[in-house]
Amino acid sequence: MTSAVAITDPFEVFTRDQLRRRTSVKWSVDEDALPLFIAEMDVQLAEPVQRAVHEAIGSGDSGYACSHHQLADAYAAFAKTQWGADVDVSGARANGGVLPAIVELLRVLTEPGATVIVTPPVYAPFYSFIKYSGRVTADAPLGTEGRFDFEVIEGAFTAAGPGSAMVIANPHNPTGIAHTRVELEQLAQLAALHGVTVISDEIHSPLVYDRPHVPYTTVDPRGFAVFSASKAFNLAGLPASLSIAGPDASAALASVDTALDKTLGLVAATAHLAALQHGGEWLASTMTALDVRRRRVAELVDQRLPGVGMRMPEATYLAWLDFSDTALADPAAVAHPGSMGSDLGVAGDLAKRCGVVLSSGEAFGEGGQNRARFNFGTRFDIIEEAVDRIAAEL
Ligand SMILES: Cc1ncc(COP(=O)(O)O)c(C=O)c1O
Repeated sequence: MTSAVAITDPFEVFTRDQLRRRTSVKWSVDEDALPLFIAEMDVQLAEPVQRAVHEAIGSGDSGYACSHHQLADAYAAFAKTQWGADVDVSGARANGGVLPAIVELLRVLTEPGATVIVTPPVYAPFYSFIKYSGRVTADAPLGTEGRFDFEVIEGAFTAAGPGSAMVIANPHNPTGIAHTRVELEQLAQLAALHGVTVISDEIHSPLVYDRPHVPYTTVDPRGFAVFSASKAFNLAGLPASLSIAGPDASAALASVDTALDKTLGLVAATAHLAALQHGGEWLASTMTALDVRRRRVAELVDQRLPGVGMRMPEATYLAWLDFSDTALADPAAVAHPGSMGSDLGVAGDLAKRCGVVLSSGEAFGEGGQNRARFNFGTRFDIIEEAVDRIAAEL
């Protein structure tokens, strides 16, 4: 498999030694550990992004970012080219990372102490950031197929009442589900009926495999979306995001404090702009490389990890592995929502025993027990070795 890798594969550019010299969280692990946890990719960055950042630094263009930065228009053009979507970006706000933007939206859209519904297993920091915003989470767990369970959601909406909010991951992290248009429309209708405001976190949206991503504000005029190019283009160290309101919701977005605009760094905005405007070719080859990897991981899990369950992700470079039917499972495992890390449950055992560092499923809340998230955005030889090391522990 490895010998067939084309040289255009951006995951095969850096050797393991080069990757180990990186200083990001992913590579700050022990010398022979294999880090497959945090959502960073082991890629070479898109050439237009590299060029734009070098030029900015070389010319000293590192002052403040204009609040009317062209990111919104670049995103609208990107959404049209990538997904055929017409996203209304009037009033969109460019700012720093996705999570601070969600916190600010919650502050504007809800009262202190309001309920914010989430759909576990879900990106763990949703729990901690909602708490930090002074709101209270309520769970509407995903159904058995990992998709929205509308009966459960309706129950949560009824209990929470008007004035509450919901935060979804669209597509979903950690299960890799890409919500369909029909599902999102159904959610929007229910939300309108119950007076709940939905905020859709679309950081993984350029990473949907076989069909176009559906931007939430195109199906819910009352809804909000927060987009960033940072997952698909590996720019977590250069945080930038866009908060977008549905056509009937722009007044609320306009009332977001201008302090939030200050969280946008100019070099980050420059990198994101280059990604959106000129990164299409790189994104296409990265998606091809990821598609091969998701299939390879599914094959390896099937062949070498007896008892481990995996559903093919429809989006993201994350595989959600189910160890419930293996000897590593703990029948008494409990969810620890919000405690993002690799030290709980099966992931904790594997990190200690064989140096494969996955994300602990328990951190993603209810439904994450005895699960672990495997980041396959890396070299083939690392993927294969990680699977073999896990196989030896089963
Ligand atoms: C669903 C989701 N939202 C937000 C983030 C983090 O966004 P940021 O670093 O821009 O705050 C991540 C990171 O993996 C994520 O998966």
